[in-house]
Formats: sequence, structure tokens, C-alpha cells
Amino acid sequence: MNGSPLAQAWDEAADGYESYFVPRFAPWVKAAASALISQPLPDGPIVVPCCGTFPELTELRKIDPQREIVGIDLSAGMVALARQRAAGMGRVSVIEGDATTLAPESCAAVVCVFGLQQLPDPEAAIASWTAAVRKGGLLSVVFWPGQSEVEGPFALLYNVLADRRPPADISWEQRLATAVGAVIEKDERVAFPMEHESAAEFWDAMAHGGPLRALANARGEAFMRVVREQFLNAAPGGPWRHTPAARWLVARR
Ligand SMILES: C[S@@+](CC[C@H](N)C(=O)[O-])C[C@H]1O[C@@H](n2cnc3c(N)ncnc32)[C@H](O)[C@@H]1O
Repeated sequence: MNGSPLAQAWDEAADGYESYFVPRFAPWVKAAASALISQPLPDGPIVVPCCGTFPELTELRKIDPQREIVGIDLSAGMVALARQRAAGMGRVSVIEGDATTLAPESCAAVVCVFGLQQLPDPEAAIASWTAAVRKGGLLSVVFWPGQSEVEGPFALLYNVLADRRPPADISWEQRLATAVGAVIEKDERVAFPMEHESAAEFWDAMAHGGPLRALANARGEAFMRVVREQFLNAAPGGPWRHTPAARWLVARR
């Protein structure tokens, strides 16, 4: 186990993330992997930083069945589930570790979904990922920008938490295309519909099996109860459908 609060939060969230978010995030994973369809790549593995339970593996294997695929994640709990997903497949490995820096010229492609926005220095990370790709290879990165929707549960969550935690510095999003340091082939927003049975179901998934787990661990149950109540009071009743937009960058080295 890595031992950092972030890694511990994802250890605890891993099962919930796999059952709740992996199916809902599947279209974005498919999109990120699709950048590699019919693309000639240099020798070397496809590396997947922040692979979590490794849903990218299924898509990438369909696209490039012979290629070695390497997932890297900080959380031992996530890595355990990723290894379950990889069980019985050849040419796959999952490394428990920090994926912010990769060895230069070490792979054919880097594919990352919903990892970049969590890293302390996304610009430095994406520059390292580009440098890790060999000449002619590809980088395909999908991440949640600071604003992924103007209405919907992500937007409400953002508003409810706005006064309760230090504002996130998202100025890096503006500088990201420059930080990539390679020819950008795609830089666009990709939105897909998602559905939650209720606002409470969404909140609980976020707090137990999602990115709010770290906040819950840091601030404690009483804090989370108050914020949950405020969130539910402001949320619509019944099933909740929304269409958040992630940002997708594809670059060729
Ligand atoms: C939202 S999950 C995404 C998982 C997967 N890519 C997916 O699309 O379902 C983010 C993952 O990033 C991992 N992570 C966060 N910081 C990391 C770091 N510095 N190095 C490696 N993994 C990291 C977390 O442990 C977590 O599993």
C-alpha cells in the first residue's frame, strides 16, 4: 500500500467505484481508447497511468490484441481489482505506484482516463507522458475539467462544496495544450448521458466509492452529513439524468 491519504481513499473506494462509476464512465473510456484505432504505432507497450480498476484494458485489447499493456495506479485496492480484470490475459501488467512521471521514450502510447485532474501538477505530468511516448506514438487523455456541466449533480456538488474547501486552481487547463509539447490532433469536449436513481444514490456513490472519499476521510462524518443534507435539499427528486462533458486531448509525438 502507498500509504498516502489519496491512495488510502481510493483503496477504500475501489469496490464502489468499480460497481457504480465504471459502467457509467464506459463511453469516455471507449472514446479515449478509440484514438488508437487504425493508427500505426511504434514498438513498445501502451501505458495507462491512473488505471484504477483498469476498464481501459478491455477496450485497448480489442483495438490492439497483440500489444503489451501496462496499467499504473497509486492505490493497492484499485491495483488488486485491475489485476482481477487482467487475470488470464497475456501481455498485461499492473504496477502499484506513482504515474506522474514516466520513463522517456519507453512506450508506444499513453492512454489516461479521469486521472490527470487529480494530479498535483497536471502540466508536468502530461509533459512527462508525452516524453514517454516514442516518435510516431500517441497520447490520448480524457479528464474532468473544473466545470464539466452547468446543471446536474456534478455542478451542484461543486457549488455546495465551493464555500467549504479552498478553491481549486484550474488555470492549468488553459495551459495544457502547450504543456503537451507535441502535435495536438484533438482537443475537444466529449459529453455522454449518465443516470442516477436519485440524488442520494449519486451522493453516496461519490462519498463512498468515488472522488469524495478523500474529502470524507479528511473532514469526517459530521461534515459529510451536513453537506449531504444541503446537496439533497437543492437536488431534484427522482431519477437524475445529466450529460457532463469531459475534455479529450489527443497528441502525436
Ligand atoms: C477516477 S479513478 C480513474 C480510474 C480509471 N482510469 C477509470 O477510468 O475508471 C482515478 C485513479 O487515479 C489514481 N491516482 C491518483 N493519483 C495517482 C498517481 N499519482 N499515480 C497513479 N495513480 C494515481 C487513483 O488511485 C484512482 O484509481
